[in-house]
Amino acid sequence: MQTDRPQGKLRLGVNIDHVATVRNARGSSYPDPVRAARLAESAGADGITAHLREDRRHISDRDIERLMAELTVPLNFEMAPTDEMQSIALRHRPHAVCIVPERREELTTEGGLDVARDETRLAHFIAPLREAGCRVSIFIAAERGQIDAAHRIGAQVVELHTGAYCDAHAEGRLAERDGELERLREMAAFADSLGLEVHAGHGLTYDTVQPVAALPEIRELNIGHFLIGEAIFAGLEAAIAEMRRLMDAARKGEQG
Ligand code: PXP
Repeated sequence: MQTDRPQGKLRLGVNIDHVATVRNARGSSYPDPVRAARLAESAGADGITAHLREDRRHISDRDIERLMAELTVPLNFEMAPTDEMQSIALRHRPHAVCIVPERREELTTEGGLDVARDETRLAHFIAPLREAGCRVSIFIAAERGQIDAAHRIGAQVVELHTGAYCDAHAEGRLAERDGELERLREMAAFADSLGLEVHAGHGLTYDTVQPVAALPEIRELNIGHFLIGEAIFAGLEAAIAEMRRLMDAARKGEQG
């Protein structure tokens, strides 16, 4: 059974999509993303995140079935706002769903959802998911208009896209990075003031996680690509343990 770990601490959701990316590159049965999820659980992940994409390029329908059957921590089911994904989510009723934009040609989820432009449709789309008991999160850019719209449509959670902050850091655009961090800080506080639970993720690494983890309104980080890459060198459990250590230190006001 999937149960929530204690509230209050900053939760870490581990995204296991890229274990499936490696598996699918050879059409083999390994590496198994569900095995990675079980290992992530024992290494201290508070939840597992998996994105069932329309083109099934990584996670498969069978992976979702197995994750629902085998996980003891909550599954955060990332999905595009399509009828197909809605019916899959309603069949499985995962602990959480995170609604993300999806374009077939993109390498990853490149931007946040434009909730403000599609408000009425999204309000109708998420209502049955909420009624089914799923905690509904919307993945958006850290912008006031998007947060307001997510609140109006009845989402319980917003996940703020940290990609622009991480890209600016990686490319050495430090003034821009600091500006993006400031935006995340202000928008996390704004979303929290509306009663939304605030999550963040995308592109986070050991180098970029701490300033985001230190933002007090943020309750959960979802991290995947870096952890799966780091696991090649250090092992998945060690990679997760180090990320957890950095998050906890930042939360306590420590760096490094
Ligand atoms: N949160 C959301 C909504 C995402 O779409 C992704 C990427 O699938 C992540 C977090 C994790 O991003 P990354 O794999 O870059 O850590």
